[in-house]
Amino acid sequence: MKSFQLCVIGAGYVGLSTAACFAELGNKVVCVDKDKAKIHKLKRGRIPIHEPGLGELVQKNMLNGRLSFTSNIIEGLKFGSFIFVAVGTPRKKNGEADLRALQEIVKTVGRFITKGQKKTVVIKSTVPVGTTGEIEKTLGKENIDVVFNPEFLREGTAVEDSFYPDRIVIGTNDPNVQGLFNKLYQPLLALGESRPPLIFTDLQSAEMIKYASNAFLATKISFINEIAHLCEQLGADIKEVSNAMRLDKRIGPHFLSAGLGYGGSCFPKDTRALDHLANSRGHNFHLLRAVIDVNNNHKFRFLEKIEKELKGLRGKTIGVLGLAFKPKTDDIRESISIDIIKILIKKGVRVKAYDPKAMPATKKILNGVKFCRNAYEAAQGGDAVLLVTEWDEFADLDLKKMGSLMEKAIIFDGRNLYDPKKVRNSGFVYHGVGR
Ligand code: UGA
Repeated sequence: MKSFQLCVIGAGYVGLSTAACFAELGNKVVCVDKDKAKIHKLKRGRIPIHEPGLGELVQKNMLNGRLSFTSNIIEGLKFGSFIFVAVGTPRKKNGEADLRALQEIVKTVGRFITKGQKKTVVIKSTVPVGTTGEIEKTLGKENIDVVFNPEFLREGTAVEDSFYPDRIVIGTNDPNVQGLFNKLYQPLLALGESRPPLIFTDLQSAEMIKYASNAFLATKISFINEIAHLCEQLGADIKEVSNAMRLDKRIGPHFLSAGLGYGGSCFPKDTRALDHLANSRGHNFHLLRAVIDVNNNHKFRFLEKIEKELKGLRGKTIGVLGLAFKPKTDDIRESISIDIIKILIKKGVRVKAYDPKAMPATKKILNGVKFCRNAYEAAQGGDAVLLVTEWDEFADLDLKKMGSLMEKAIIFDGRNLYDPKKVRNSGFVYHGVGR
């Protein structure tokens, strides 16, 4: 199979996974990031994030000479016939996507790619509909094709998602690039048992597919969290309800787990960016606004429950299990756990916290929390324990032991990780979400 030379700009979750995946598939990849400290680390084979399997994949492909790192973008641009751009598009205060990092790169690409060089610029960053078309106009060179190829990987399962995607979407205004992308993705399509479809579409539709997918998944989560609230009021159990709903093929099995709401670097940002985009076209996207509002407010119901059970919060000691926005990552961006801890501290609670991977990142941004070595230490002497991130190791805790260390054995299970009966049999007062 044909192999290519790639430059991947941005060594975050998406860039690093893309670079390592394409290298593993036989291509030669140079990954660029302007953060020199990050590149220095990567050159020594150490990845700056916790992402299962990614470190090994990076090391393996560095050793076989297919993957290298540089902070010199010009070096990368010279090397790659494909230039993948995977830089962050964080949200501005008004919800709009901040495209400064991307625009900076486009400028550099325009300046340094000369007429004789044939290049394909592939935008992976999530961008508002219309952005890639603008980039195409800005670059305006016959020898540069501009394509939008959204990324659907999830943090925590980035490697698996990169190799076995449900679909690959290629947005392009130029039908001639299709052959090239068929060749680039051929080795990946051949990997799984069921070949994922390679979908070619126009630029705007490809950009919308990304926003619509994230917004729809966020909608499922807010919907199930609203049903969970009703279940609590009416004596139903959300687990029973969602488990039966999942079996309907039209509904599907995923993203129906009630909890404390969605966090992370994607859903909160992308739902707001889509809402902003809708507003900019005079469209009031009522449904999406409701999804965002439900998510913002959902955690307060949980906090009310804690306050009621503990008969006030001031002076109480609470152990918080989980800081990352989801398990298998050390990412704390827009983590519900951090929001909850900040509120608890404001309300006069002494917070003890533990997370298997996210404590170093949290220590940098949170004061006034006692960070513990394990879940038992976090629970010790506490008036209650809150399960906020459903790491596997929390599912296997010895609850009898944990309860015996606490002032009061009360658990608030924010992710419905535990079987309420078993927890109660271990001597705990149990509160879940929607049950
Ligand atoms: C999400 C999408 O799932 C990816 O397809 C997409 O590529 C990525 O955003 C992105 O745009 O870059 P990610 O944010 O890594 O991926 O994680 P998810 O697994 O989607 O979880 C997001 C949040 O939803 C987490 O806080 C999780 O706890 C919450 N969630 C998820 C629920 O509360 N209930 C569920 O049933 C599922």
